[in-house]
Amino acid sequence: MNEITVDGEPLPFVEGQTVAAALVAAGRVAWRTTRTGRRPRGVFCGIGVCFDCLVTIDGVGGQRACLVPSRPGTTVTTVTTVTTGEGGDE
Ligand code: FES
Repeated sequence: MNEITVDGEPLPFVEGQTVAAALVAAGRVAWRTTRTGRRPRGVFCGIGVCFDCLVTIDGVGGQRACLVPSRPGTTVTTVTTVTTGEGGDE
């Protein structure tokens, strides 16, 4: 089984899924919060434009999870483990 590691936990993915797709498939709809207001963010545009999906991947921060393919052994660190969200403008 293909797995990435997210916040120290194994997360399965299907070949061809981005990191964001693997997170969403696992039920994670938000994984960071905004600097002001602490509003939850996950995937919004899904095409690399909005930067809502930022994570740290293999030690490199500020990666757009919607653009990075999941690969076995990839290590992902999120800023938060928020699982529900609300709208906002950040
Ligand atoms: S969801 Fe918009 S950049 Fe990733």
